[in-house]
Amino acid sequence: MRTQVGIIGAGPAGLMLAQLLHLQGIDSIIIERKPREDIEGTVKAGVLEQFTVDLLNEIGVGDRMMREGHFHDGIELQFSGKRHRIDLRGLTGGQRITVYPQHEVIIDLVNARFNTGRDIIFNVSEVSLHDVDTKEPKIRFKQNGETHEIQCDFIAGCDGFHGPSRLAIPDSIRKEHLHLYAHGWLGILTDAKQANPELIYSNHDRGFALLSTRTSTLQRHYISVDYHDDIANWSDDRIWSELHARTAMDGWTLPDGPINSKNIVQMRSYVLETMNYGRLFIAGDAAHTVPPTGAKGLNLAASDIKILATGLAEFYKSGSEDILDRYAEIALRRIWKAERFSYWMTSMLHRNPNHDSFERNIQLTELDYVCTSVAGSKTLAENYVGLPIQWENKSLIETK
Ligand code: FAD
Ligand code: DHB
Repeated sequence: MRTQVGIIGAGPAGLMLAQLLHLQGIDSIIIERKPREDIEGTVKAGVLEQFTVDLLNEIGVGDRMMREGHFHDGIELQFSGKRHRIDLRGLTGGQRITVYPQHEVIIDLVNARFNTGRDIIFNVSEVSLHDVDTKEPKIRFKQNGETHEIQCDFIAGCDGFHGPSRLAIPDSIRKEHLHLYAHGWLGILTDAKQANPELIYSNHDRGFALLSTRTSTLQRHYISVDYHDDIANWSDDRIWSELHARTAMDGWTLPDGPINSKNIVQMRSYVLETMNYGRLFIAGDAAHTVPPTGAKGLNLAASDIKILATGLAEFYKSGSEDILDRYAEIALRRIWKAERFSYWMTSMLHRNPNHDSFERNIQLTELDYVCTSVAGSKTLAENYVGLPIQWENKSLIETK
């Protein structure tokens, strides 16, 4: 098989890239380890930045999102028995967030891909990358017991944190940073009434909780737990009892209901600085992961892809590799800022078992400061709605 761009992974990164390339007349082949039903059914992210919403609209896959998504102008932070609203829209000059589930984004992107008449090769195994430091890189894989090879001009490694792509960069060159957290997030989907018109992030003495939503009758909530804990130790009653305790407010009761799904995910911060090597470009969770507290992972995948697709389009139009050469530099500026924000939100909102009483009070005071100072709230708001891509080495402050 021969194509211009070989894409490994049909997550948000790989599928958005394929669509952006298609609109520029650039051909791609996507291979995916899982079956279609799995990628369309896995419950993950919920919060999309305006940047991501704009990109999905730009590539023609935003219609259902605009009809079925929920647009939120603010979020609430809860601590010391009180809730405080962060007015995202007011503090950022009109920006808001959209709550629309990741698996619905995937369904829309997969449909768009098939509408272009191009395929996605599902259920592949034994994926390996070859000659990535030449102009004729190749991907080999197995499907139904048969070995196949894709010859291409470029390979996009969009295969998530556990994928093989970045391992094709030699150890001696690959520069990376990893930070692990003691807690994980236990996430549930529940048939219950919406708890609140906006998301609530709570820092309680018993631990973190997040109340989010999907539809008026389906809710997505999270609590922090020990990452090593087994989901089997968490009966529905135990989960609800923690959620009730961690979000309790006088005169308010969290609506509960049957739990449809529950799982525990680990929280880690990871940055691959060597985002490209020869003709291999790594994007999305394969190149960086963040703890979910800042709701940034999918949104960062979207900005990587925008930069990469712009670079590839420029290459095929003019032969210039200027943007491709600067791919990592441009992407990493936004990635590190999102890493910083996600780390900060995580440290501010989660109980740290090693904290002494002084540090616990500093944490609560930071929350108080963020919620009561315009500068503090604005810092949170502008990061939460998403910072722009800095294509040039310019300041983030616009001077007129
Ligand atoms: P992935 O979604 O991991 O996709 C990679 C794909 O590659 C997968 O389909 C995988 O099967 C495939 N693959 C792997 N190995 C191979 C192989 N060998 N061959 C072929 N294919 C392969 N982000 C947000 O922006 N907002 C949020 O609100 C948010 N909330 C989150 C909540 C939770 C609980 C979690 C877990 C994550 C959340 N995220 C959020 C993060 C977001 O889900 C990820 O950042 C996003 O999925 C990254 O997309 P990706 O395409 O880079 O990687
Ligand atoms: C959701 C996930 C997040 O990580 C977050 O910070 C907010 C909301 C969600 O799944 O709805």
